[in-house]
Amino acid sequence: MNYQITIKYLHERFANAYLFSNSEYSKDFQPPDKSAVPFIPKYAIILGTGLGGLANEVEKKMSIPYDEIPGFEKSTAPTHEGTLIAGFIKGVPVIVFKGRFHYYEGYPMQLVVYPVRIARLLGVKYLFVTNAAGSLNEDFKPGQLVRLKDHINMMGYNPLIGSNELDKKIIIDGKEVYSFGERFPSMHQVYDNAIADIAHKIAEDNGISLKSGVYCGLTGPSFETRAECLMLNRWGADLVGMSTVPEVIAAVHCGLKVFAVSVVTNLSNIYHSEPHSQSDIKKNADKAAKDLLFLVKSLIAEINTTAE
Ligand code: HPA
Repeated sequence: MNYQITIKYLHERFANAYLFSNSEYSKDFQPPDKSAVPFIPKYAIILGTGLGGLANEVEKKMSIPYDEIPGFEKSTAPTHEGTLIAGFIKGVPVIVFKGRFHYYEGYPMQLVVYPVRIARLLGVKYLFVTNAAGSLNEDFKPGQLVRLKDHINMMGYNPLIGSNELDKKIIIDGKEVYSFGERFPSMHQVYDNAIADIAHKIAEDNGISLKSGVYCGLTGPSFETRAECLMLNRWGADLVGMSTVPEVIAAVHCGLKVFAVSVVTNLSNIYHSEPHSQSDIKKNADKAAKDLLFLVKSLIAEINTTAE
């Protein structure tokens, strides 16, 4: 595979995806030139705070800074680098978003979910999301990995608000399809059970503690008060964070299968009355990073052979 051509090819595909996603320019949309290099990523992985190490595991990789991708902005969040990495994990084509856009950065929701839609336009079938979260559940201690089984959207906004893109057509894998999805997508089964089962089996076989829980997404950037944490806990949330929910809603809307894992970086202040420390959050994310990395890599290899 020719590195230069691949970068050029990706740039072309991003440019086309951008033109397509921006309705003003959609008349200029061109199907990607698939004769260039057949790199169709199957997985998109969004890496959260302190979890960027996974990007080093990508083989034959090409990196593109976000500011070179049409429609992207620089991520301003701490430890969010802002690079897209395309390459292979266990021989499977992937794209990794090292850094995400948060609503609290002041970006519109359309931008927060833009990487997911770009991924879909590039041919991705599975979205893996990682994040750092506070624990509302006394069984989930810092450093614990928790697979999301459901979520509560408390961001006061939904990324699908606005005109639905259903009437636009795009070419994916040579087929003309409607993008991105229906007006009122069901959220009855957001996180894919088959993938979750495989993840729990891998964790069990390898001595990794993987729990499952409900994630509540708030806008931030202030952390929650104790009263808010108590309320979220009574609502049935196990984890609280400032991301993931918008990307996952957009992913379900456009038909991606979703797997998401939180790394518990701190206890919420139901359990203590100390201020949150960014350095502790980073330290606890680092602690869990090795297991998370192993889990994601194994999952990609395993799904490829079993779940399809
Ligand atoms: N609250 C919200 N977001 C977070 C937290 C938290 O306690 N920890 C890491 N991200």
